[in-house]
Amino acid sequence: MTQQQFFAPCPRGLEAVLADELTALGASGIQTVDGGVSFAGDLALCYRANLHSRIASRILWRVAEAPYRKEEDIYQLAFNLPWAEWFDVGLSIRVDVNAINSPLKSIDFITLRIKDAVCDRFRVETTLRPDVNTREPDVRIYGFLTADRATLYLDTSGDPLFKRGLRKSHGEAPIRENLAAGILRLSGWEPGTPLLDPMCGAGTFLIEAGLMALNIAPGSDRWFAFEKLKNFDAALWEGIYNQALAAEKPKEPLPIYGSDISNVVLEAARENLAAAGLYGVVELKQADLLDLSAPTPAGMLVANPPYAVRLGEQAELAALYPKLGDLLKQKFTGWRACFFTADLTLAKLIRLQASRRIPLYNGPLECRLFVYDMVAGSRRRVKEPVA
Ligand SMILES: C[S@@+](CC[C@H](N)C(=O)[O-])C[C@H]1O[C@@H](n2cnc3c(N)ncnc32)[C@H](O)[C@@H]1O
Repeated sequence: MTQQQFFAPCPRGLEAVLADELTALGASGIQTVDGGVSFAGDLALCYRANLHSRIASRILWRVAEAPYRKEEDIYQLAFNLPWAEWFDVGLSIRVDVNAINSPLKSIDFITLRIKDAVCDRFRVETTLRPDVNTREPDVRIYGFLTADRATLYLDTSGDPLFKRGLRKSHGEAPIRENLAAGILRLSGWEPGTPLLDPMCGAGTFLIEAGLMALNIAPGSDRWFAFEKLKNFDAALWEGIYNQALAAEKPKEPLPIYGSDISNVVLEAARENLAAAGLYGVVELKQADLLDLSAPTPAGMLVANPPYAVRLGEQAELAALYPKLGDLLKQKFTGWRACFFTADLTLAKLIRLQASRRIPLYNGPLECRLFVYDMVAGSRRRVKEPVA
């Protein structure tokens, strides 16, 4: 594969940190748009991005892009592509389409027409057609429509990349792995800096931080859709994979601390840390966060507090926030505290001056990352930028 075009979708708000990550992996021609990053690179970059990206949801290979006016234009665009060169007719497919400002009436109909075009093209070339499997397809095809342009992608990831193949048990409302990794990047946390998640739930921040600190590639324990494509270069992939394994740091206890008020979710965190090979690397304990003291003189606290749905829960949280603010003032000077939440009342009720309020989306839900710098000896506003 020579230079090709790719698109990596990600949770909205993480485009800039994803662009940095892809640049570091060797991508060129990087452009960020709402919800993702387009870039150019070769097959090796495609494999590296799948294996190493902590923030992308998928790596999509752009196979066609053209202006369109009607449904038939999109059928032709898909029919004209050499699908049989890319994958075997015996593999099952699934087509998904997203559209922004498209004048076409039915996205479902476009989805069907793209599927028809792929099958018709296969029939012409092989007399056979691939089966459709919407639950566990071998090959995913994506269509994206703007007001006047249609783009087709072949997915190279398979299961979304936030499925690391590691998390076994869920706590209460666990955050997606790539969102957690992106929040860690936005917080400015670097491996080596002490990290505390005092509401750790199933341990997602702890696991992502542990993987980063030990240089463990997030995709080292799963398979990828590119392995099923005809252009799969097994020797190239093996080289990239073995290089990643060789770069892992030896496991040792790290200054990464997690706690939660619930013993039940801590059990889930323990299982997940063990599945990620991080048991003994991260320290876990049961505690109400209001009883905690800082484990080290300086560090980074990152958490996503519970999200209150019912009225009683809202009252509980409204009572918790000012106490949380007091705790930070009294016991966490020298620390930066970052709270990821959809509850915008936190900012008012915590009674601290935020140094950053970063808009982020958890799926369709608008959230914020509130950043507080607990400066020793004063409560003045801190304007230092977040990486
Ligand atoms: C939204 S969940 C965190 C999810 C976590 N980030 C994950 O990915 O699994 C909020 C967590 O806060 C915990 N929690 C609520 N009140 C607490 C308190 N006062 N002290 C410590 N933990 C608390 C809950 O038990 C729950 O696990």
